[in-house]
Order: sequence, then structure tokens, then C-alpha cells
Amino acid sequence: MAALTHIPVLLNECLAGLQIKPEGTYIDGTFGRGGHSRAILSQLGPQGRLIGLDRDLTAVAVGQELAAADARFAIVHTPFSRIHDVAADLGLLGKVDGILLDIGVSSPQLDDGARGFSFDKDGPLDMRMDQSAEKSAATVVATYDEKQLAYIFKVYGEERFASKVARAIVKRRENAPFTSTKDLAQVIAAAIPGKPGPKHKATRCFQALRIEVNAELDELKSALEGSLSVLAPGGRLCVISFHSLEDRIVKNFMRDQSSGPKIPSHIPLTAAQLDELRAQSATLDIVSAAQKASDEELAHNVRARSATLRVAQRLNYQPEVVSQSQEG
Ligand SMILES: C[S@@+](CC[C@H](N)C(=O)[O-])C[C@H]1O[C@@H](n2cnc3c(N)ncnc32)[C@H](O)[C@@H]1O
Repeated sequence: MAALTHIPVLLNECLAGLQIKPEGTYIDGTFGRGGHSRAILSQLGPQGRLIGLDRDLTAVAVGQELAAADARFAIVHTPFSRIHDVAADLGLLGKVDGILLDIGVSSPQLDDGARGFSFDKDGPLDMRMDQSAEKSAATVVATYDEKQLAYIFKVYGEERFASKVARAIVKRRENAPFTSTKDLAQVIAAAIPGKPGPKHKATRCFQALRIEVNAELDELKSALEGSLSVLAPGGRLCVISFHSLEDRIVKNFMRDQSSGPKIPSHIPLTAAQLDELRAQSATLDIVSAAQKASDEELAHNVRARSATLRVAQRLNYQPEVVSQSQEG
């Protein structure tokens, strides 16, 4: 069973980033096996509250056990892109002191061959984080045309040989459909020139398929946007990402929200007016840029090596003030 556990990454850094108040209200948008959630609960007092979200039904079942044992905790089966709606339903808009997103897949998802995320464990071509969702990796591999496949391998996998891989998949499926992860991994590896290196040749394409199946980048963008109306002034947003595509989205979002609106240069405003406008309209303050796992953490959890944590704080944004000053 050890293989189906998950070691929370950057745990101390997340707790420091969230600046937990004992009476505060927090959202763990990626409950997983609850490693971060349990640590947050250990710092909350009796009046504190934590809402866990996950779209994986197995993670939700673990969350339900925790909720039964701890009245301060509740779990919701939902994609985290719905964070605004979930908070609205709970009467928590603008009242949440911290949100954690530890995005990507959990170790139990990766390690269970039956979930179909891994190329080195044979299993069905699945890759759905939410087992009740319709689109699986098998759907993508069987129905996307060559151009669509090449696009996702290139853009989501940053695979140099995206077109070759797409062509090989389409050619092969004309004779026999793909049914297993190993079968697909072999065809992908054979289409990529060069000798095998330390990383399996199918790594990038498997990442791309997973992102496509679970709409991971759109999910992240919606959750970041949604977090702005959920956080209380001073509330913290902590996001851990595991690859550069995600980290770029988080970094750009935090940068844009902390720098206020882009004012075209022909608009006649003084430098002081520009500063004031920016100060009034920025929604976030960056608390910490990219934090990586320490050597000590890496020594006991190799999966933390690609994790990057960014932390921002919600500013006391008042949209009316901006529109008044724009009118004046
Ligand atoms: C890296 S694990 C989180 C592990 C967790 N922090 C822990 O300590 O156990 C990511 C979890 O987030 C979930 N997840 C990923 N994307 C999601 C999304 N868009 N909406 C909801 N849950 C998501 C996955 O199902 C997985 O359980």
C-alpha cells in the first residue's frame, strides 16, 4: 500500500506562505490524500475551517473519512475551476484567508496502473482525474486527427517530434486500435529518433495527453481568476506547479494582477496618477517568487524536484474607487 500514498511537497513552505490564522477559513483546492490539508488542520483552532476540493473520486472518499472525523473539514467533489461557485454556495466569497493549489497528479494516481497515467505500468488508456468524466486518453488517441494530435504533443508536451508521433499514431490505429498505455508508449518511442535517454521517450507525449484529457491549463486559469473573488483582503494564494507550462501561467497571472492595468501611452496621465491607478487596481501583491524544494526534501521525495511554489496576497481591491478616478 506504500506505493499508493502521497508525500506532500513543499509542506513547510506552503504553511509559511498561507500564514495560517487559527480562526481562519482555508480552501485546499487539490485535496489528493490530504497531506497538506492535515497539516493546515493541525494549525487551525476549534473555530477554523478548511474546505477540500478534488475531482478524483478516490481522493474524495479519503476526504469524506477525514470530514467524518473532523468537523472543521468538508470535502467537495468538483474541478477547482469552480472555486468561485463553491465559495458562493458556502457563503464564503471574499472571506477565505488562504487557497492552496498543488496541481497535477498525485502519486496514487501515477502509481496505480489501472488509472492509465503511466507509461511504465501497463494499464488502460485512461488518464482521467475524474473517473466520472467522459473524455479519456483512449478517446483522444482514437478520435483526434493527425493535426490535432501534433498540436497537443507540440504545445502541451513541447515534443520536438510531435508531427512524427502524430503520424505514427494515426497510421497504427488504421490497423488496430490502441488499448493500453504500454502499447501507446512503444509506438510513441519508436517514432522519436535517437537513442533512449534517462527519461522515457514517451514522457512528453504522455504529459500532453494528460493535460488535454483533463483540460489542465484551462482549469488552472479559471481557478486563478476565481480565487480573486474568493480571497479575503490579505488572504494568501499558494500555487505549486510541476512543469513550465503551468508555472508560466501562475507567474504571469501573479505579475499581471500585481501590476494593475496596462495604460496605453497616449492617455494623458501624470506619473503620480498612473501610480495611484495601479495602486488602486492591482489585486495581488507577490509574496514570494519561485520556491523550490530543499536538498533535504529531495533526499526523501524525488517527486518534489520539479515542484515550484509561488505565493501572492490579495490586496484590498475596491473596483468603485478605480472607476471613480477613471471618470474624474
Ligand atoms: C498533487 S495532488 C495533491 C496532493 C495533496 N496536496 C496531498 O498532500 O495529498 C493533486 C490532486 O489534485 C487533483 N486535481 C488536479 N487537478 C484538479 C482540478 N482541476 N480540479 C480538482 N482537483 C484536481 C488531483 O485529482 C489530485 O488528487
